[in-house]
Order: sequence, then structure tokens, then C-alpha cells
Amino acid sequence: MNLDLTEEQIAVRDAARDFAQNVLKPTIIERDNAQRFATDEIKQLGELGFMGMMVTEANGGSGMDTVSYVLAMEEISKVDASVSVCMSVNNSLVCYGLQAFGSDIQKEKYLRPLASGEKIGAFCLSEPEAGSDATSQATTAVDCGDHYLLNGTKNWITNGNSASIYLVIAQTSPELGHRGINVLIVERDMPGFMVGAKEDKMGIRGSDTHTLMFQDVRVPKENRIGEDGFGFKFAMKTLAGGRIGIAAQAVGLASGAFELALAYSKERKAFGKEIHKHQAIAFKLADMATQIEAARLMVLKAAAMKDAGEDYDLASSMAKLYASEVAMKHTIEAVQIHGGYGFVKEYHVERLMRDAKITQIYEGTSEVQRIVISRSLLKD
Ligand code: CAA
Repeated sequence: MNLDLTEEQIAVRDAARDFAQNVLKPTIIERDNAQRFATDEIKQLGELGFMGMMVTEANGGSGMDTVSYVLAMEEISKVDASVSVCMSVNNSLVCYGLQAFGSDIQKEKYLRPLASGEKIGAFCLSEPEAGSDATSQATTAVDCGDHYLLNGTKNWITNGNSASIYLVIAQTSPELGHRGINVLIVERDMPGFMVGAKEDKMGIRGSDTHTLMFQDVRVPKENRIGEDGFGFKFAMKTLAGGRIGIAAQAVGLASGAFELALAYSKERKAFGKEIHKHQAIAFKLADMATQIEAARLMVLKAAAMKDAGEDYDLASSMAKLYASEVAMKHTIEAVQIHGGYGFVKEYHVERLMRDAKITQIYEGTSEVQRIVISRSLLKD
């Protein structure tokens, strides 16, 4: 098995690292404090080709592979998970969903501006009472002949206010259960669409998370993706790829915190020597490095399987489950190694710790990943 990266993959990783360290890092503490969305920085990410990385060049994207995408996600997330979640939703949920399942007209009209970063997309599945239990959609899309009438509320929507193209999952035929669900492309200026309250969050405070409301929104039938009733499978298939991106985000958070802790342990002295010379700290660093490397390899494996056209659903859930637990555990350890300095914002690790928690929750909680993994193990 060849684990070497290609020259192109290394160049993508280095460009993402350079952008994260030189463009994002100088402003991240201020943006996190102010809960400010990185509008200008995300525009620059689009110009670098990072908002539609896996979209074909024919559709306006960068035509890169999933391995390049996870390498870029890791580097951006080492510094700024608020920016990387925007990037992740745009790339692996919205762009992927349109590229894999959209019509030629939908690709031209919606995918092209999303892939270039000219527009931002949002993926609208979660509801006040439908999070992990995603089949229980209360949002309705009533079939009215040439259009659907969309009504309902979506919660915790990433890019909620900054997006202008929304993929909305809604129930059309409740009697058919998950087979009665559709996915519709909604434009921000369609009458009846409203952006509601912004969430005041523990972490990823620079990301733009909102409630969205749909009141008698007329969505043309040509804006349905796929056949009638395809919406739930669309969501599941798309999320399986999205989980690779979030797993890469988790690796980035963990490795960003590890790099800060390693550097700090070489500078800080206690009891007459640098703290990494105390076994209590050296062993923590050894465990962190080992588990982060294991998580990274799981993410790369899932990405490589996706690139090879193999079934990656199991690998993506395993990578997300493990990487998010590693991120939470080791960002806490990084704060501990920093002692009192770790508890103040200037040292960055407390933010990485707060940001890590969401990787165990969004795009399927750790419990959802265990459902996917155990069902796969136990199926006939
Ligand atoms: N690919 C294709 N089809 C799939 C699939 C997949 N990966 N997974 C399931 N399906 C299909 C099944 O085959 C089944 O279809 P049939 O009956 O025709 O065979 C159908 O979908 C229903 O599947 P299940 O019976 O397994 O569904 P379930 O109700 O038991 O739920 C679940 C399974 C895994 C818990 C699922 O509901 C789930 O993933 N929930 C979590 C949702 C989630 O991740 N939400 C995140 C919101 S988006 C977000 O967070 C973005 C952001 O802002 C960052």
C-alpha cells in the first residue's frame, strides 16, 4: 500500500498551511470573540480554489481529489475551524451533492458559482425535532404540479446567513416515510424564505449558524434534485462524504493543539528543566502524536476509498468517530500541558478545545456513527 503523497497533494497542503498561518491566524482571536464570519478570508479561499476542490474543472471547480481536500481541511482546521466548517459544508455537502446528483441545468446554474466561491451554499436537514432521527422531517414540500410549496423550520444551519443557495430536505409524502422525502434547491431571495436567529455558540464562534424559516416558499419543480422521493438517500450519501471532511477537521484541531503543546513544552521550564523532560509531559505528547497519526491515517484511507470509487460509508463513519474523540481528548491535554496559559485566549489552545466538541456532534453525533458502524458489522 502506497502512503506517499503526490507532488500536487503536497503543494495543496502547503498552500492551505500558508493561508491558515499567514491569513487566518492573525485575526482568529478577534473574529472568535466577535463571532464574526470571515467574509473576506472565505472569498480568498474561493480564489485559491478551496471552495469547490473536488468539483470538475468543466463545472467550474478545481478538479482535485478527496485526499487533497482532507489535507487542506486539516491545515485550515489547525488554526480556524470556523472557516473550515464553511469550507467543508460548501465542498462536501453542497458541491458534492450537486455534482453527483444534480441535473446539467442545476450544475450550470448553482454548482458553478458555488465551486468558484462566488456564492456559498448551506445544507438544511436538521430541525428542532429531527437531528439524529433525520427521517422525522416536519418540513413539508407539497407537490403543486409545476412547483413545491415549502413550509417549515430548519435549525443549526451552518452558513445560514452567508449562503445564497440552500439544499433543503423536506417531506412530500408522509405515508411513504423516508421514501417520501425530497431535496430542493432554494434561492435566498425566494419569497417566504427567512433567516432567523443566529446561535451564540461555545465553539466555532466565527461560523454563521442560524435558524431558517420557510413560509409558503414556491420552489420550481426543476429545483428538485433527483427523482421524487430521493431526498433521504441524497442526505445519507452526501453526509457519508461530509463525515470525511469533519474527520479531517477533527485531525486538524488535534494536531494544531499538539503542535502548540509540543512547542510550549520545549520553552516552559518547571522544577529546573523544560517540561517535556518530565515524563508526565513526554508520555502525554507520545500518546497525542500516536493517536493523531492513527486518526489521520483513517481519514486518508476513507478519502482514498472515495477517490477510488469504493464504498466509503463505513470508513468515513469510523474516521469521524475516532478523529472527533481524539480531537476532544487531546485538545484538553494541550490545555493541560499549557497550565494557566492554556486557559487564556492568547495561547489559542482553549479555542481549539471549545471547537473540538462540535466534531462529536455535527454531521452525525458519535452515537450516529456507532449506529452506522454497528449496522454495517451486523448486516447479513
Ligand atoms: N447511502 C445511501 N442510502 C442510505 C445510506 C447511505 N449511506 N444510509 C442509509 N441509506 C438508506 C437506507 O438504505 C434506507 O433506504 P431503504 O429503506 O430504501 O433501503 C434509508 O436510507 C433509511 O435508512 P435507515 O433505515 O438506516 O435510517 P434510520 O432512520 O435508521 O437512520 C441514521 C439512520 C444513520 C441514524 C441517519 O438518520 C443519520 O445519519 N442521522 C444523522 C443525521 C445527520 O448526520 N445530521 C447532520 C446534519 S447536517 C450538518 O450537521 C451539517 C453542518 O451544519 C456541519
